[in-house]
Amino acid sequence: MVAPVSVATKFNVGGILLDRPFKIRRLGHFGFNMADLEKAHHFYSDLLGFRVSDEFARGGWFMRFGTDHHAFALFQKPPAQTGTTPAAGERRYARPDITINQITWQTQSLSEPVNAVDFLLERGVELQRTGRDGAGSNWATYFYDPDGHTNELYYGIEQVGWDGKSKPAEYRRPVREKVHLPVKSEFDEIQESLATTNVPIDAGYRPMELPGVHDVDGILLPRPFKIVKHGPVNLFVEDVARARDFYLQILGLQVTEEVTYRGEPCVFLRCNTEHHSLGLFPLTLREPLGLSIHTTCASFGIQVANYRQLREAVAFLRAEGVRVETDRVPPELHPGVDYAAWAFDPEGHCIQLYYYMEQVGWDGRTRPASQRRKVNPSRWPEVLEPMADTFMGEPLLGPWG
Ligand SMILES: [Fe+2]
Repeated sequence: MVAPVSVATKFNVGGILLDRPFKIRRLGHFGFNMADLEKAHHFYSDLLGFRVSDEFARGGWFMRFGTDHHAFALFQKPPAQTGTTPAAGERRYARPDITINQITWQTQSLSEPVNAVDFLLERGVELQRTGRDGAGSNWATYFYDPDGHTNELYYGIEQVGWDGKSKPAEYRRPVREKVHLPVKSEFDEIQESLATTNVPIDAGYRPMELPGVHDVDGILLPRPFKIVKHGPVNLFVEDVARARDFYLQILGLQVTEEVTYRGEPCVFLRCNTEHHSLGLFPLTLREPLGLSIHTTCASFGIQVANYRQLREAVAFLRAEGVRVETDRVPPELHPGVDYAAWAFDPEGHCIQLYYYMEQVGWDGRTRPASQRRKVNPSRWPEVLEPMADTFMGEPLLGPWG
């Protein structure tokens, strides 16, 4: 149960008084547990274009599309769970259909994930672990939502630059306990590692890439589109009101829009100016929507750079044998996004491809439905008229390939 948050308690976050000791700024990364990692790698890396930044010791990969060390991760699926009753030492809620490895939220200072520990415990939230990860070097606090999805609050993920190399493993400094503040800056840590290890600064992992054969708005890339953003994450949950309370009261997301679809409530929440970073749908909609019953993930969003690339992504993935739906995607389930396609990974996870998301400003108001683009999911025109916010939102930093 989620205890009600006392309105009297305020937390000083960078000189601003908030109801919780952190402020989520964006979706940081996301991951799936998958049974066949080779097939998963082909789909997410070769076809979608996530690039491996580090290999995971127990099987799997950290992957990126920009400078964040990982925006997406693939992990080996644990042996099949036999039921919903967890064994000793396992998490309290162990649904066998949770194939999401983690849903990760970025905060802007180290004190935030650290101070979140007591805040979450005092409110009865089950912690998984806190400290600092190895690969990616982010300081993090992991915990479960009411359905058992692992969420993470983090600060300071490693940035990968022009040389495409991750930080050498020997430079990492994992922490397995609540972090004692303050800590050294990353720059000072690296100076120390240079002085105390014999490992050169460029010893880290660097992936290979497929040949660039598609002219993508002037750059030759291995596929005719470029991922520029990830999310939203859409979840199937047992009780939408319970999950809504958790993400609202505990994590501080804001409700942007609530819709009723086939008589069921669906909620869309934001953490910044994007219309939504998280959607909550009732589990009862999973089968009627034709989505895979093996997962509680309704969809994971991938934004490509523009509308032309979205159209080309659909054609490219279909030619590669991927199941891609366009006219079966209900517009009610992607408010603030005009054109969206569903592409299915080898194990049935739904990837929502799109190119545009409505931006919400200081007054929290969404665009009136009458002023949204009229979309016929069965008929995608070749070109579109611009809207006021067609290219708004944070652009990708750096080159595409
Ligand atoms: Fe993480």
